[in-house]
Amino acid sequence: MNAPAKTTRLPEHPVDPQFPGRWSPRAFADTALAEGDVLTLLEAARWAPSSTNVQPWRFVWALRGEAGFDAIGTALVPFNRDWALRAGALIVVASKTTRTASTGDEVPNGAHAFDAGSAWMSVALQAHLSGLVAHAMGGFDHAALAQAIALPEGHVIHAVVAVGHQGDPATLPESLRAREVPSPRMALSDLAHRGKFS
Ligand SMILES: Cc1cc2nc3c(=O)[nH]c(=O)nc-3n(C[C@H](O)[C@H](O)[C@H](O)COP(=O)(O)O)c2cc1C
Repeated sequence: MNAPAKTTRLPEHPVDPQFPGRWSPRAFADTALAEGDVLTLLEAARWAPSSTNVQPWRFVWALRGEAGFDAIGTALVPFNRDWALRAGALIVVASKTTRTASTGDEVPNGAHAFDAGSAWMSVALQAHLSGLVAHAMGGFDHAALAQAIALPEGHVIHAVVAVGHQGDPATLPESLRAREVPSPRMALSDLAHRGKFS
């Protein structure tokens, strides 16, 4: 089970507990994931909304122990490699930057990144609902990762997501142990404005 969120996660307004309850630990248990575990996360992502239902998100994933996992892991920055290689699976979140217009032409899809973000959030929330944890990382070598996953032209990589069963913080490098707690949030009044920015 996921560790309960600490008091830094008190919502200001009524909200389903999954939202403050989801967080991004770095400690993973040494428990393997099965293909079906990952496919359930990606199935959740498949149902995300997207501009004109283009569904621009693309995923490349591998289970720990597979060559693909090592290839993705090698492209992570050392800070992330220090903890993420213990995850049960790594998922690369990418998107196709163009869509096919009614004329048949490929035209820029200005919403591809926004939509890929929606899909990642579905992965994260489904992981939480499945009793797993998911931790997104932007810290990777883009060129190396693009090569490792054979990224097609016209696609961009947004993040690598480490997923698995939550583990004991004691397994983390010492520098990360104190950071293994759910983070707080800005006040809603700093983020949301009624009518116009104040
Ligand atoms: C696009 C993106 C990139 C991130 N990159 C990293 C990263 O490279 N390394 C890391 O340890 N955490 C990374 N994070 C995790 C964030 O730091 C984390 O989501 C944020 O602090 C909020 O905490 P929470 O997810 O526990 O609520 C990233 C998260 C996102 C969404």
